[in-house]
Amino acid sequence: MGALMSRYLAVLGRQAEISSAELEAVFGGVRQVSRGLAVFDSDILPEIARLGGSLKLAVRIPVTPLEYLSDIESGKITLGVSDYSKKASRKTAMMEALKLKKILVRHGRSVRVVEGNGAVLSTATSLHNGLSGRNPRKVELIKTDEGWYRVIGVQDIDAYARRDQARPARDARVGMLPPKLAQILINLCGVLPEGSVVLDPFCGTGVVLQEALLMGYFAYGTDISERMIEYSEKNLKWLLSNSKRLFSGHFGGCCRELGRSPREDGRERPGPEKTPFELAQGDATSHQWQQPINAVACEGYLGKPFSKVPTEMEVKEQKQECGAIIMGFLKNLVGQIEPGTPVTIAIPAWLRESGEYERLEILDLIDELGYNVNNKSREGLLYCREGQIVARDIIILRKK
Ligand SMILES: C[S@@+](CC[C@H](N)C(=O)[O-])C[C@H]1O[C@@H](n2cnc3c(N)ncnc32)[C@H](O)[C@@H]1O
Repeated sequence: MGALMSRYLAVLGRQAEISSAELEAVFGGVRQVSRGLAVFDSDILPEIARLGGSLKLAVRIPVTPLEYLSDIESGKITLGVSDYSKKASRKTAMMEALKLKKILVRHGRSVRVVEGNGAVLSTATSLHNGLSGRNPRKVELIKTDEGWYRVIGVQDIDAYARRDQARPARDARVGMLPPKLAQILINLCGVLPEGSVVLDPFCGTGVVLQEALLMGYFAYGTDISERMIEYSEKNLKWLLSNSKRLFSGHFGGCCRELGRSPREDGRERPGPEKTPFELAQGDATSHQWQQPINAVACEGYLGKPFSKVPTEMEVKEQKQECGAIIMGFLKNLVGQIEPGTPVTIAIPAWLRESGEYERLEILDLIDELGYNVNNKSREGLLYCREGQIVARDIIILRKK
């Protein structure tokens, strides 16, 4: 008998198109029903901790909200209501919550209503009131024009902050890839079997590798800088020794034996070491990687950091420098991966005085190298904060 299909709703992050693309790559059939909401059907339970771009996940309830709440086992109910319907306001959300409370209280139940500042509860409010779906008596219901949903997961902002800020080796000069974006880059490669090898050929301090490990993949990183390899190693070892305590990470099935060179003194080495990651120094434009490579997810070389909008000349120089490294890398990679292998890469785009971003125009060239470009329409996959000078332009490829 097949698993049961359910309808899920995702509250999308600030950059909704990127969040929606992530869901599409993992679940398929995603429909964006408004700017910040998407729905999809799945027969596997989606996990919020694996999705960098979704703020909340909820499942459709097949009964009325009152029937759903009445079925909750005895004890005090904590209830939050977020209203995403067209006519929503703080008042409509509160009225729904209070109406439900009144009826439940009449039937002898004790209910506390969580108040928000608007029609919907913020991620922090949901999280800090325990409305993340773990406790069946602490419930957040979401009203939409298409029906009611129950929240099953809220993005754990504290866990992201911990693994971003607590890792021992950080380097402001190589930029700080947010762990959420690293997850998105990996997920844009599609669903990969546990233990798949995810390569980051520009691994820097290892944010993509960290997230790959937490998702149950084998993390394979290379970087031109020996210092960055040391940083990645330090960070991955730290993650492995803290994963259970800090992140409930799991590393099952993703170890492989490392290739080892013979000892110089000719004596036998101790038994093979098993780790779920491998690191090596190497120039991405010429390095020969070990096989297999099941997916490539990386933030490529982003060029010089800028504190103000660069001049025309500066942009021209940066486009040449970054373009040569990225194209050199993709040319080197194409002969080393199997057809169909996904490659997701964040490349730089520069803010201009007009407020628009100037992108590296390399998609046609990439196509000629032997990759299918999945998001050639170029809409929406620029990841940046308001006014950020070097934005990350996400491109999604697959070897032809
Ligand atoms: C934007 S950073 C990536 C940061 C990384 N995502 C992290 O988590 O820290 C780009 C990295 O590319 C590396 N790099 C630059 N040119 C390279 C090349 N030709 N081959 C490999 N790595 C290169 C730099 O040393 C740097 O670590």
